[in-house]
Amino acid sequence: MRVKHQGTAKHYRTVWFDKSRNKVRLIEQRLLPHQFKIVSTVDYVETARAITNMIVRGAGAIGATAAYGLAQGARAFQGQGIKTFEKHITKVFNMLAKARPTAVDPINAMRSIISDMNGRTVVERQSQALALAEQFADDDVTHCQALGQNGEPLIQENTRVLTHCNAGWLAFVDHGSATAPMYAAHAKGKSFHVFCDETRPRSQGAVLTAWELKQQGISHEIIADNAAGHLMQRGEIDLVIVGSDRTLGRTGEVANKIGTYTKAVLAKRHGIPFYVALPLSTIDWELENGFAIPIEERTQDEVLYAWGITDSGRRQSVRVANPGSSARNPAFDVTPPELITGIITPLGIFKPRQLWKNRAKLGFSGTL
Ligand code: MRU
Repeated sequence: MRVKHQGTAKHYRTVWFDKSRNKVRLIEQRLLPHQFKIVSTVDYVETARAITNMIVRGAGAIGATAAYGLAQGARAFQGQGIKTFEKHITKVFNMLAKARPTAVDPINAMRSIISDMNGRTVVERQSQALALAEQFADDDVTHCQALGQNGEPLIQENTRVLTHCNAGWLAFVDHGSATAPMYAAHAKGKSFHVFCDETRPRSQGAVLTAWELKQQGISHEIIADNAAGHLMQRGEIDLVIVGSDRTLGRTGEVANKIGTYTKAVLAKRHGIPFYVALPLSTIDWELENGFAIPIEERTQDEVLYAWGITDSGRRQSVRVANPGSSARNPAFDVTPPELITGIITPLGIFKPRQLWKNRAKLGFSGTL
């Protein structure tokens, strides 16, 4: 998307690759909205750390970062022979896969690269790894664009949309999932309003979604996480669109940022359509039920403290919780299919339970 920064506007992807230096380039998302900075990771270990520490976050963005990290690791290999190379790739895969466990995009991205990296020599495979990572990133962009076109008609003139966390372009390579229908509706000249859930503890809604929407000139307000029920009850929300970190193709269950399930229950109570937007790389065809999804538990400090910027411009963390109290911090929850009106994909909108019936069309290879 175009970013206005220091008086100029320039198009950025969230993540890209510097081939000559074998570095992954990333927007440092922890500094937004106060500072726009690009950082590089020098090797796959540092790339995995950037995912864990949330320099880059969001399902599609960490999918592309893991894909580039795998290519980075492959290209750094200096040993002899295909067998040693394959062992090395398994090590790189494992490190990147465990960097964040809930989103399935990194696994899907890396598995497809590994299965297509079939050159006869190490050199051939190293060059295939990068070409395939670039392909994953490009596909992420086209998928998000396509799902945006499919979801755009849901947003009418004056629709009031609620979204949770950041499933915007920063969470993907470009365009976003939940935001893609919004960007498509905005491009068509429609006027609408977006409520951004603040999304404690890391506040991706208040910090990232609000920054994105402001940059693109879309009307929006940040609301406290607990305000949505009240606004729904008063008839002030017409539509909910969220993203997903892992959606089960077999059952239609959706893992997404903690608090998504609560919003889906509220939307059902108030008869408000609740949509989930995702590219095909977010579908997990393997797991058989939502309880099997690994739910990341992050440090309790994210709940006990909050990051902000002082009036003098210094970035600072302050303790907000009672000293001596501890906290629990599950980062994701799972929404069951009966609470979901539709899944917006690049190939159209499906009922959650129709994903399995349409699996061939939606990219299930049948080899799991
Ligand atoms: O912890 P994050 O910021 O990586 O989580 C991202 C989310 O859960 C978003 O809500 C999003 O919908 C999934 S990523 C597109």
